[in-house]
Amino acid sequence: MPEKIRAPKGLEGVIATKTSVSKIDGEKGKLLYRGYDVEELSKELTFEQVAFLLWFGRMPGFEELQQFNRDLSSKREISQESLDFIRKAPHTVNPLVLLRSTTSLIGMHADADNEPALDAAKSLVPKFPTILAHFDRIRRNRGLVRPSAGTSSAENLLYMISGQKPPKEHSDALNSYFILLADHGLNASTFSAIVTISTLTDYYSAITAAIGTLKGPLHGGAPSQVWEMLTEIGDSGNAESWLEKRIESGNRIMGFGHRVYRAEDPRSRALKGIAKKIASRKTFELAVSVEETARELLRRKYPERVIETNVEFYSSLVLNAVGIPVDMFTATFACSRLVGWTAHILEQLSDNRLFRPESEYVGPEGLSLTQNY
Ligand code: SDX
Repeated sequence: MPEKIRAPKGLEGVIATKTSVSKIDGEKGKLLYRGYDVEELSKELTFEQVAFLLWFGRMPGFEELQQFNRDLSSKREISQESLDFIRKAPHTVNPLVLLRSTTSLIGMHADADNEPALDAAKSLVPKFPTILAHFDRIRRNRGLVRPSAGTSSAENLLYMISGQKPPKEHSDALNSYFILLADHGLNASTFSAIVTISTLTDYYSAITAAIGTLKGPLHGGAPSQVWEMLTEIGDSGNAESWLEKRIESGNRIMGFGHRVYRAEDPRSRALKGIAKKIASRKTFELAVSVEETARELLRRKYPERVIETNVEFYSSLVLNAVGIPVDMFTATFACSRLVGWTAHILEQLSDNRLFRPESEYVGPEGLSLTQNY
């Protein structure tokens, strides 16, 4: 039996597993997917090419990529059961909760315990955008838009939401966003996914667990709150006063800070460049001013810590600019991160060992009912 190790709270700084999927260099602010720099990938490749790279550890050949694109885009339609479920969902439900529930429903109708994870992934990845777009059209009392054929995941999502072919710069921006958000080492939702799959349960159960984890504001649930913050500050006209009140009330400023990065999140840098191109000048200038003020206030309040802009801050500008409804920002994040969760699930299954840590009991002992009750 190996010697027991007592880990810091939140497993901060603990290396819990090995991976070759992605590498975060927190000190230098760099992120690699299978050895490639994520900023370069986000400028040069399609989300589908990056999904292939993350899942199979190499770039696809031309024919392979065509086949992979066909495999994915041919499975964008959802079943009648899923559509009926979405129609009956309350229109006010958080779209990420709808995604989590519909994933469970799809898993219920699938041969989940015998379906290989890769097959399940190839079926689920193209369906996430359809689930979200159909839900948004239904809650706005608009007719459904069928998935488009032969288009990228990014273009298809925007098309299914708006009913029109999106401007190329919007599809390109969302494609880069999908690449930048696809994977990020052992973040909380990926950890959930591999802990769950390590019990040899089915793929849909692991993804349902991951979506539930992503929902929290300390993880993926921040971008909508960033947008709300920018809107409130824009209305108030005084960033410093709004942010100071927020910090003094002990609340977090959404879009800042990270457990691993002690330098700027490279994805934030890339998203800031995209936001500058496609967001309105007024919105972008407001965001830059809020970012500078927030970083200064956080630096003053926590001089011993590096609390930099994280991926969620400029994500909110990019997603708003391409027409994603604000309450669907985290669900759109999930459309991308589903690819990363899948890569880590496949890796865990290739060399599995059940995750089962221990806890240090600090409660009372030796009590007996006759003496104590
Ligand atoms: C992502 O893990 C990943 O890789 C996540 C992600 C991914 O791609 O999967 O990168 C996605 O980055 C999402 C992060 C989105 N969440 C937010 O933006 C919410 C605001 N940020 C924080 O809550 C916080 O920064 C975390 C949760 C992101 C990181 O927290 P840590 O490293 O555990 O830091 P901490 O909570 O221990 O904070 C240390 C101190 C605390 O002060 P005290 O309570 O000790 O007095 O710094 C303060 C915090 O209050 N602090 C902040 C802050 N971030 C840290 N104070 C105000 N605003 C903030 N944003």
